[in-house]
Amino acid sequence: MFKTHSCGALRLDHVGTTVTLAGWVHLRRDFGGVIFVVMRDREGLVQVVISAEVSAEAHKVASEVRSEYVIQVEGTIRARPTDQVNPDWPTGEIEVAASTVRILNTAKTPPFYIYEDAQVDEALRLRYRYLDLRRTRMQRNIILRHKTVQFIRHYLDAQGFLEIETPQLFKSTPEGARDYLVPSRVHPGLFYALPQSPQQLKQLLMVGGYERYYQIARCFRDEDLRGDRQPEFTQLDLEMSFVHRDDILDLMEAMFVALVPAVTPQKRILSPFPRLSYVEALERYGTDKPDLRFGLELVDLTAALGKSEFRVFSGTVANEGRIKGLRVPGCAGYSRREIDEITEVAKHAGAKGLVTLAYTVDGIKGPTVKFLSEQDLEAIAETTGAEEGDLVCIVADSFVVVSAALSALRLIFRDRLNLVDPDLIAMGWVLDFPMFEWNETEERWDAAHHPFTLPRPSTYEAMLADPTAVLSDAYDLVCNGYEIASGSIRVHDPKIQLDIFRILGYEEADIQARFGHMMEAFSYGAPPHGGIAPGIDRLVMLLADATSIRDVIAFPKTTQATDLMADAPAEVSERQLRELHIKLLGTDT
Ligand code: AMO
Ligand code: AMP
Repeated sequence: MFKTHSCGALRLDHVGTTVTLAGWVHLRRDFGGVIFVVMRDREGLVQVVISAEVSAEAHKVASEVRSEYVIQVEGTIRARPTDQVNPDWPTGEIEVAASTVRILNTAKTPPFYIYEDAQVDEALRLRYRYLDLRRTRMQRNIILRHKTVQFIRHYLDAQGFLEIETPQLFKSTPEGARDYLVPSRVHPGLFYALPQSPQQLKQLLMVGGYERYYQIARCFRDEDLRGDRQPEFTQLDLEMSFVHRDDILDLMEAMFVALVPAVTPQKRILSPFPRLSYVEALERYGTDKPDLRFGLELVDLTAALGKSEFRVFSGTVANEGRIKGLRVPGCAGYSRREIDEITEVAKHAGAKGLVTLAYTVDGIKGPTVKFLSEQDLEAIAETTGAEEGDLVCIVADSFVVVSAALSALRLIFRDRLNLVDPDLIAMGWVLDFPMFEWNETEERWDAAHHPFTLPRPSTYEAMLADPTAVLSDAYDLVCNGYEIASGSIRVHDPKIQLDIFRILGYEEADIQARFGHMMEAFSYGAPPHGGIAPGIDRLVMLLADATSIRDVIAFPKTTQATDLMADAPAEVSERQLRELHIKLLGTDT
């Protein structure tokens, strides 16, 4: 081995020990006869002192090293003088008095400093990802991800789960995104699809009799990307036979309650997890992925203001719309500019405007006060509970727009008013989703979760007559305002599965071609089963206090789905295309 100890692991206990270290030059300071080199390896930083008096040879080599050179150092650990102790470093009480310095490799000047946590342009970080990965924050994130996955593996193993791999070259799976396709060389004109998730395969493993399966599964989806979405991402994919919904929820809840303190001891997870119906989540928070770390719930003013003389209100209610508001404590003093900013947030979410009422010592202020009667103002104060110092924000529109606008405002106030403890993890279950959603553009029904989800038995009878009446046995797990897991109890009766495919508008031939293997499997004794899939990237992002899943993935893609380091996607040779029976149409088609 090149080293006897890790740089970051050295402590006062090691004083007097002779060590050999190997790592990178984090920074170097030359004081003439004495050179200080801060050395870095995976465990952290340590200060090395190279004195010409101790070794002229070591001093000569040290004067040549530059940032990011790879070096090997032999020396003795000694305590730092009290006035030179660095309390910010775990190794800050000691230093290494070097007797030998060896250069293992040189380095060009890096395009950004590894030792600065300063803002570096993300494109540059991704272009030189291997350098970015050397930074402490990235190392911490990648190590946290490792610990999270290890914890999950041990936990599920102890619960009798088997880890089983499933193919990456498979068939188009309907999870709602576009597929990544892989052309077949041996079968001209035919394609594999990379799985959007192992959904069908894990169900087939249940038919295969494995009862408890999990996998740390890579999923591929060609969809519009953003901070919490990548074209390839990782799920803890899990499926169980002979269980009811609550068995799965209880297992996951117990796992997360154990996982959070184990991998992030500074974090606190609230339990038990609250359970909300989909409708309740939308009514109270305006979204099906609420941040449950704080209150500031939506207040329904539809009944209170339906008869208002203010046309915006009464007109909306006459059109079957809704009026809802937020009571925000302590914001009555908002300036014109601040009001404009929050109005913009509401408008960006689709609202036509925002009524703001400031409850000041001099009464209620706001541009719309003049349109509101005494009665309206009383009804608002009573329903919202507004008191002096509060700002009440009201939106009148369709339920969808009101919900979107107020949930966006809720998050703005969360950040402006510092309403959450950043070390709090608040998870919750969202249940009773609708089974189908009407797709306006395509004029057809879509599965709200996926087509293998079981309709709630009580609503199944009504399904064929009215798809909107059906609730499903699907569930989401939300965490700090993100959806981090989704799952459902599945259909195991081929007749019900067929009904669902029909409602989704699949032709018989299509069902046979796409899902014939599933229908057939269900006819050979499929057990009742269900499962869930937490997104590992999102989970680790939240545990790491990162704002993008790119910061917890070693080699992520940009929002344009490109890899800036390897420059992918890239052109391939004519010969490769010919072998795959592919002729390019050109970019203008
Ligand atoms: P779903 O499509 O809801 O369900 O995905 C489950 C979880 O995976 C994560 N996730 C993503 N993470 C990063 N980038 C993406 N593009 C992305 N898409 C999804 C989210 C999400 O909650 N087969 C079903 C699960 C089941 O029914 O068991 C499924 O894939 O955290
Ligand atoms: P207008 O009648 O468009 O001049 O709007 C009068 C006031 O009502 C302005 O302060 C608007 O921001 C607000 N407003 C307009 N439409 C809505 C709406 N749908 N919901 C809430 N406030 C609105």
